[in-house]
Amino acid sequence: MFNAKAYSATSSTSPLAPTVIARRDPSENDVQIEILFCGICHSDLHMARNEWSSVMPTVYPCVPGHEIVGRVTAVGSAVTKFKPGDLAGVGCLVDSDRTCPECQAGFEQFCPNQTLTYGFPDKHLGGVTYGGYSDSIVVDERFVVSIPAHLNLAAVAPLLCAGITTYSPMKHWGVTRGKKVGIVGLGGLGHMGVKFAHALGAHTVVFTTSPNKVDDALRLGADEVVFSKDPEAMQKHAGSFDFILDCVSADHDINAYIHLLARDGNMTLVGAPEKPLSLSSFGLIFGRKSVSGSPIGGLAETQEMLNFCGEHNITSDVEVIAIQQVNEAYERLLKSDVKYRFSIDMASLKG
Ligand SMILES: NC(=O)c1ccc[n+]([C@@H]2O[C@H](COP(=O)([O-])OP(=O)(O)OC[C@H]3O[C@@H](n4cnc5c(N)ncnc54)[C@H](OP(=O)(O)O)[C@@H]3O)[C@@H](O)[C@H]2O)c1
Ligand SMILES: [Zn+2]
Ligand SMILES: [Zn+2]
Repeated sequence: MFNAKAYSATSSTSPLAPTVIARRDPSENDVQIEILFCGICHSDLHMARNEWSSVMPTVYPCVPGHEIVGRVTAVGSAVTKFKPGDLAGVGCLVDSDRTCPECQAGFEQFCPNQTLTYGFPDKHLGGVTYGGYSDSIVVDERFVVSIPAHLNLAAVAPLLCAGITTYSPMKHWGVTRGKKVGIVGLGGLGHMGVKFAHALGAHTVVFTTSPNKVDDALRLGADEVVFSKDPEAMQKHAGSFDFILDCVSADHDINAYIHLLARDGNMTLVGAPEKPLSLSSFGLIFGRKSVSGSPIGGLAETQEMLNFCGEHNITSDVEVIAIQQVNEAYERLLKSDVKYRFSIDMASLKG
């Protein structure tokens, strides 16, 4: 075991503060990574504040962070994919049972025995896993991905969650040229959704509650932007969408978007608000529409997404911050005031 510097929350109401945590020494299949950047996902805030208590109650202390990029500092004797000095990424998963049908099909995100990067029972050290708001992490190589070397590292970090979470459902629901795709909520996930929908060739429409994001949405690749609080502007798109990706972190009216789907259209929820949303069955019945959800993606698809980003030069638009600014960043997330992902420069943890 060795000590790592980190930031943790010790209760649902306490701000994140410096701490020291234990990391395991790398065993034969492990990769030890010096963390260079970690994105701030809205899920980090939900978890630090125990907002998902009904589904996954937070265990404290909680060290959030699952958008991790860094440099390999050591590898176990059986590791084949990485060597010291390589760039490496870790997303939301650090382990699974590897034997269930989901794991065998490459869908580790659906494994009933998965270990999330933070807040899940740690099979090695006991207690719970600690995430990327830290200077290092040790992960089995099966759950470590390779990073295209030419991309900006601070801007790559958010791909590990915001990237795969938006890429995976678009691939699943067949987003491609000729399709009309809506992205609801221009935050960390939403802005990656716009980039992917555009790169996949779809006609991309952004729905935002923030009028000041219109120009950015167009620059990010949207063909149209709709101010979602304007009922007339919404009505113009009634019955026209093949697919809508809902990336909203708070309570909102999903029926207004179901109304915009074409026959057999699908709306996928990736946003995970604290409280249940209300759904009108009639909105689905007339038009045989569907609503579904989607969690992150498997390891193979995460690597595919990173390679796609490498080929298309796609990264996140980031505001790089020091770890000491993390609590302020959380308050800004709650005000939809992020353009469009905070990425923590872990050099700030060294001082
Ligand atoms: N399914 C998964 O695997 C997965 C993975 C990662 C995150 N998530 C969840 O996805 C959600 C979004 O995460 P994020 O990191 O992208 O968050 P974020 O950066 O805070 O973005 C959320 C966006 O939602 C919109 N919004 C916020 N409050 C709203 C309200 N009251 N009404 C309508 N729109 C509102 C805002 O966009 P506008 O300003 O454009 O309106 C905001 O920028 C979170 O709930 C997170 O936990 C799920
Ligand atoms: Zn996340
Ligand atoms: Zn499994």
